[in-house]
Amino acid sequence: MQRSASALSSSYAQLAPSVCARGRAHPQDRRYRQDACGVRHPHTAAQLRPRPGLGHSTPTSKWSGTGQLEPACGFHVNRRHYRLQRTLTVMPFPLLLLHQNITFYCDSYMKPLALIGAWYTARRSIGFLCEMYNLLRVHCTSRLFRQIDFVQKYGAWAVVTGATAGIGKCYAEELAHRGVNVILISRSEEKLKCVSSSIAEKYHVETSYIVADFSKGSEIYPSIKNALRDVEVGILVNNVGVFYDYPEYFGLLTEKKIWDIININMAAASMMVHLVLPGMLDRKKGAIVNVASAACYRPTPLAALYSGSKAFLDLFTRSLHYEYGSSGIFFQCITPYFIATDMTSFSSRLHNLPLLVPSDDVFCRHAVPTLGLSTRTAGYWIHHLTVLLQRCMPEWLCVFIIKHMLLYFRKEALSRIQHHNLEK
Ligand SMILES: NC(=O)c1ccc[n+]([C@@H]2O[C@H](COP(=O)([O-])OP(=O)(O)OC[C@H]3O[C@@H](n4cnc5c(N)ncnc54)[C@H](OP(=O)(O)O)[C@@H]3O)[C@@H](O)[C@H]2O)c1
Repeated sequence: MQRSASALSSSYAQLAPSVCARGRAHPQDRRYRQDACGVRHPHTAAQLRPRPGLGHSTPTSKWSGTGQLEPACGFHVNRRHYRLQRTLTVMPFPLLLLHQNITFYCDSYMKPLALIGAWYTARRSIGFLCEMYNLLRVHCTSRLFRQIDFVQKYGAWAVVTGATAGIGKCYAEELAHRGVNVILISRSEEKLKCVSSSIAEKYHVETSYIVADFSKGSEIYPSIKNALRDVEVGILVNNVGVFYDYPEYFGLLTEKKIWDIININMAAASMMVHLVLPGMLDRKKGAIVNVASAACYRPTPLAALYSGSKAFLDLFTRSLHYEYGSSGIFFQCITPYFIATDMTSFSSRLHNLPLLVPSDDVFCRHAVPTLGLSTRTAGYWIHHLTVLLQRCMPEWLCVFIIKHMLLYFRKEALSRIQHHNLEK
């Protein structure tokens, strides 16, 4: 009698592993007991079969002597489980079997799953804290407490491409403000002369310029190389870049636009790095800044080639950082969102959002102090937060938002062009 009781008791432990593992059965639940004893429940036979991996080490029931198995102390079923058991009695047989299998396996995997969950949560939390620390370090401490002496750290001269307007011009001014002499490169000699003399006058630094049209491809680089031969370039800012006239489907771009983007956005940066790198390696110091765009992070419909060219710059910079980082050269990739410059003049709305779309000088006032602190930054703290937010979103959601935003800008630009043509 005793033997059969203990056998039944251990079978009970096998039969309801989740229950056994958790504790006491509901004392009033007669149906449950009957189930467990195999009197009424249709699955008793299958469940009584010993299951691999289930120990007999939780004999928590006792034989009542009345022919029924009584749940002993230490046996506990919580309310949820109790309700679940009630539902099970009305479940069709295959569903019941499926449910019991799932509960059985989930129960045995509960601890590893909990560990994985805890590890994932900890990882995400630590990642978030690191990002916040990085945001504060790059954008606050650099501006409030520490100003890097660029002349001493990298050298006396900086070369800035696309420097007659927008970000390039403001970046050159910010560097000059810190005592760095600047060489400006753009297409228009007139604009170059004007910007060059105004910087020299305002910031009391030496300035110079080189006229070059980067859309012309390989033919312009020998003259740039010649002009830079005797200059110890400490900082190179690869800022020059072009976007479409407005967001557009790739198939509707002209061939010229495609070649312009390849030559100006990608080839120019590669060739300029190739020109100044040997000198920097000799001096074992220098900084190279590549102005990419936040479009490099996610697929950007209606700006496919542009975003592809910026993704190239991003990966190019990060790869160079690992290639030459130990040689004393600092590589930085700047990835801003929209900035109110000529490039974004296709939408008047964009220029009316000063916090999200800063002016070029506000942007550069934030971006220049990050040089030497971060190898990859949005440059502006709100854009930095936006990048973090974007990273939390699934790709389909980001693409959905970007696509609809750019479609809206396209529509706005096309209607303006149409209106303009009608006025003519
Ligand atoms: N604006 C934004 O919202 C935004 C956002 C993210 C990233 N970016 C990136 O930031 C960089 C600067 O953008 P931006 O808005 O300041 O542009 P921008 O206002 O249009 O200025 C472009 C500059 O590049 C020069 N340039 C244009 N084509 C040239 C060519 N073929 N050869 C030589 N110089 C040329 C222009 O001078 P000339 O006309 O005198 O030649 C001008 O100085 C670009 O790489 C862009 O992709 C901009």
